[in-house]
Amino acid sequence: MAEQFSFFETKEPKKTQKEIDIERLTFLKKELKRHNKLYHTLDNPEISDQEYDVLFKELVALENQYPELITKDSPTQKIGGEVLSFLATQKHRLRMYGLDNVFSLEEYEAFLQKGKNYFIKENPYKELSTITLDTWWADPKLDGLAAEIIYENGELVMALTRGDGEEGEVITSAVRTIRNVPQHLGENLPFTRLEVRGEVLMLKKDFEKLNEKQKKLNQKTFANPRNAAAGSLRQLDTRITAERKLIFLAYGVGQVIIPQAEDEIGLSLWKTQEALMQGLSKLGFAISKESELCKNSQQALNFCEKMETIRDTLPYELDGVVYKVNNRLVQQVLAFTARSPRFAIAWKFSSRKAETILKAITIQVGRTGVLTPVAELEPVSIGGVMVSRATLHNEEELKALDVRVGDTVLVQRAGDVIPDILSVNLEKRPDNSVPYEFPTFCPVCQSKAVKLKDEAAWRCVNIDCPAQKLQGIIHFVSKAGLDIIGVGEKWVEKLVEIGRVKNIADLFTVTVKELLVFEGMGEVSANKFVDSLNEAKHTATLNRFISALGIRLVGEQTAKTLAQAFENIDDLANASVDKLITLQDIGPEVASSIKNYFLSSERQEVITRLKEYGLNPQRQEVVAQKETALTGKTILFTGTLSKPRQEFEKQAEEAGAKLLSAVSKNLNYLVVGEKAGSKLEKAQKLGVQTLTEQEFLDLLK
Ligand code: IVH
Repeated sequence: MAEQFSFFETKEPKKTQKEIDIERLTFLKKELKRHNKLYHTLDNPEISDQEYDVLFKELVALENQYPELITKDSPTQKIGGEVLSFLATQKHRLRMYGLDNVFSLEEYEAFLQKGKNYFIKENPYKELSTITLDTWWADPKLDGLAAEIIYENGELVMALTRGDGEEGEVITSAVRTIRNVPQHLGENLPFTRLEVRGEVLMLKKDFEKLNEKQKKLNQKTFANPRNAAAGSLRQLDTRITAERKLIFLAYGVGQVIIPQAEDEIGLSLWKTQEALMQGLSKLGFAISKESELCKNSQQALNFCEKMETIRDTLPYELDGVVYKVNNRLVQQVLAFTARSPRFAIAWKFSSRKAETILKAITIQVGRTGVLTPVAELEPVSIGGVMVSRATLHNEEELKALDVRVGDTVLVQRAGDVIPDILSVNLEKRPDNSVPYEFPTFCPVCQSKAVKLKDEAAWRCVNIDCPAQKLQGIIHFVSKAGLDIIGVGEKWVEKLVEIGRVKNIADLFTVTVKELLVFEGMGEVSANKFVDSLNEAKHTATLNRFISALGIRLVGEQTAKTLAQAFENIDDLANASVDKLITLQDIGPEVASSIKNYFLSSERQEVITRLKEYGLNPQRQEVVAQKETALTGKTILFTGTLSKPRQEFEKQAEEAGAKLLSAVSKNLNYLVVGEKAGSKLEKAQKLGVQTLTEQEFLDLLK
């Protein structure tokens, strides 16, 4: 057969290695530019940071080999982030550089060595020895949007995004709506102009709330807090920005003009990065509390590891850590390459995204009957954790992704939440793939599923559905319920499967002997199972008990409200809808769901049995307290305030804060009045966040 076509064959001359390299180089430039735009301008990245870095490093290597091919518009010469056309733009007086990345101790040490070599060659100051290169200021690498806020004579006059580093977008009015950005810096300042640089962020909790709201309003949700912050900041309509809770954390300065000074970065005021950060904090800027000084690369490694471990417990997202040489004169000596500083580096955490194959889509039936599509994946390690399942949320999201069995998908894992799928790699889609058809029946009890008005989810409404029952029992012992640690999900499944447990009351009758029959169940675990249920009878609180019942629309918050309004479960069961709707946050729908729950004779019987077994928690007398920004926080007041200190202390306590008597690492906020003395100094040394009286009052709102 081959001969038949030989006629048409055009013999392509074999390409030289150089030609292949040039082709690749051109491709990489184009591809990186496209990803830059997706990431920085459209807030809609297609690939992970690590994948980007791999491509970027490949381009750097090729350009090193063929320096004559480096063009001005190459992504290696730019910082990324094109400027959005509809906002006015403004040149930065001092370029806003990006940071180079390292991913390991070896790479970090290589970076240090390069800096040292450069310093030895270029250092003009005899008094500066290489010892000054040992101390590094370590910051979390905040995952938000870089901004520069400019003050003239102490007044906020302009704010800019980083843009392409040379020129940014003017976002002054948007930044003025950020509550923790000072509008004035006070009187008698040593500088006439100060450019403060830092990151605009959205806290994780505010991001979740925003997405909830967007969903309700049928508007675009955001993939992550960074995109949400970007979308909120680059708004022409600043009323929208003002509604979105953004915060600004400072990490450095741009130009600082001090009359008669020789430099333009404020060296005479702040000789070290540490002093600069304290200075910014004193001026009223929020800075991250986690920052530390590192005296050697081992300490730098420790810091990075520590931050990666506590990452999920922090209120904001971070994607690594940043190290800056502490001595700012040394920073000036080391200066910048074409792209980034020699005195600072980002150490990125390993990626929490990975590609894998979607083997199947299954449907999980939740305790309220919701059918959730689940992606069954070819197991893949993401940031050290094996992931084999991810949620596909609901039919709409599944359709929007157009994800199909056999697809290669990008999976993301963030904290404790169930992993989810970010995108489908269409280039790797098999030819024979077909769109997924969402089932219209419950896969467990086969009854017809329904889609309620205003809901995205399909639901199985058969209250005898075994899957709902099982999930209800699992919920009862789960964290959202009574949090009975000794009772594992696996064993509950087995007990339900063999018909030994049909409802939550049955759980309390299971004996050690019965449990030991199961393969893999040892004596220790069996005893723990029974003991922890017995213990729960005494330790369960009314609100946890209500939440554990799994009443539709009654989450942990509503359960708290109910537990304060009723004496015990009988009292709640007998409450009328009229009484229920008088309670905070309880509307007619929730009230009727509660009423319906207790109408079932089967459930009444279960509750009667639970009481017989000794599970009947009573209301605890607690002072009704609303969750505020200060709940659980420690606080201390110092200096002269506009009202007697006791009044502020009372306000703070009423808002759920704890008063401390001295400044320590355990202090969350120091509220600073006029003429504050040693307490302020100590707080700054320890990096404790300071608040003005007004900021404290704002927090109470
Ligand atoms: S310092 C010359 N410190 O990371 C120093 N940057 O790729 C330049 N970032 O655009 C930046 N946290 O938006 C610095 N603690 C931190 C940071 C930080 C986040 C961002 C910043 C910058 C990007 C660099």
